[in-house]
Amino acid sequence: MGEQHHRFVFAETDKNLSISAAYGFLARMYDPDWYVVAEPEEYLRQREVMLPRFGNRQVAGYRDLMLHDAQEFISSLGADGRFEISSTLNTVLLRIAAGCFLGEAFGAILTPEFGELMDDFAGGLTFLPRWLPSSRRRRADRARLALRAIVADELEERRRNVPERTAEDMDFLDVLTSATYADGSALPQRVVVNLVLGVLLGGHETTIGPIGWMLVDLLRNPGELELVRAELDAVLGDDLSPTLAQFMKLKVFDNALRETQRLHPPTTVLARVAVADIEHAGYLIPRGTMVMVTPYGAHRMPEVFEEPARYWPARYTEFPASLNGLINFGGGNHRCLGARFAELEIKVVLGLLLREYDFEMVTAGAKGTSGLGPHHLTSPCFVTYRRRRQPVREEPRTAAAAGES
Ligand code: HEM
Repeated sequence: MGEQHHRFVFAETDKNLSISAAYGFLARMYDPDWYVVAEPEEYLRQREVMLPRFGNRQVAGYRDLMLHDAQEFISSLGADGRFEISSTLNTVLLRIAAGCFLGEAFGAILTPEFGELMDDFAGGLTFLPRWLPSSRRRRADRARLALRAIVADELEERRRNVPERTAEDMDFLDVLTSATYADGSALPQRVVVNLVLGVLLGGHETTIGPIGWMLVDLLRNPGELELVRAELDAVLGDDLSPTLAQFMKLKVFDNALRETQRLHPPTTVLARVAVADIEHAGYLIPRGTMVMVTPYGAHRMPEVFEEPARYWPARYTEFPASLNGLINFGGGNHRCLGARFAELEIKVVLGLLLREYDFEMVTAGAKGTSGLGPHHLTSPCFVTYRRRRQPVREEPRTAAAAGES
């Protein structure tokens, strides 16, 4: 653990440290030539297609959808009530991911069965050895086939009826449907299906932990909640449709989210396997050794984080160097593509919720899940809520729809 060692692991990935050898379960969930676990050359080809989809401008374009879904969710809550944190927010996050990555068709696709299939598919995220019989993995295999068929049908439909859109209006699926590798050759449909499934799963499975934990952390630290609230009230005010620039101004919120991700990183372990004997920091790492970086441990190092057990968002302004110790999104080439997307989504959904409602914990002693998949709050974990201001009106789902209304 420590910055120097993290840098080494991230820099050696796809050189002397193999990511695909460590994440064999991803090859089973998708295919052995799926993006992250593909051979380094194929990985880079697919990365060139994916990277531009997650640039600043593209992520900014998802704001409309995020805002619409967050407001629709808030309208459904009414003046007061209670909800179970992870399952309720997961529905909102899956809806946003489906809207952003499947486009207009998502309404027909996003049935309760689709949600269950995604949950079963996520069960494949496990380091359990392949030879170990597991019903969870069998369910994941079945869900994979069903989800592939759904996404492949939607892609076919797009290819048959190419929507007349300008490059500006093209959504994620339009772009991937017509994407080519840098040499001009088309991406095989199977590769596109896997890329879409990857962002659909990544788009909600890892975000559910930080959004749920941030709510709990703030309720446990009322002073910090007050600071986040004061900023939300000052920056978003009563605006029905806060702009991207307003969300970007939420610096106290940013620090609180960082602190939540420091204490409860959803990805507790990042793994690689040495494909050659390597020397590092005076140690010999023999070929075949599994090398791990643990955000969970690294984020609690007292040498890097003053009073590591304390929820203390201001540490990032008081000790800016501590930012370098955060590895919740990984690092190097394989650093999380969806980091900006996740942060904006959490700001929009949780930011608006905190602006509209007062919350109280119902379930005492909220805990994190254990096990080998992405970590989040254990369910059930309930909160009650009560409206603290007049409700906001709904916003049209797309910029185009806004023009029509
Ligand atoms: C707070 C939420 C998230 C966290 C903590 C997170 C964490 C991570 C981490 C640690 C990695 C690197 C794994 C490694 O090096 O072994 C990663 C990679 C990745 N993440 Fe995320 N992620 C989050 C949200 C998202 C979202 C919302 C998306 C998509 C919309 C996404 C898509 C990806 C992709 C495609 C990769 C692979 C990048 C590559 O290998 O080039 N993630 N994520």
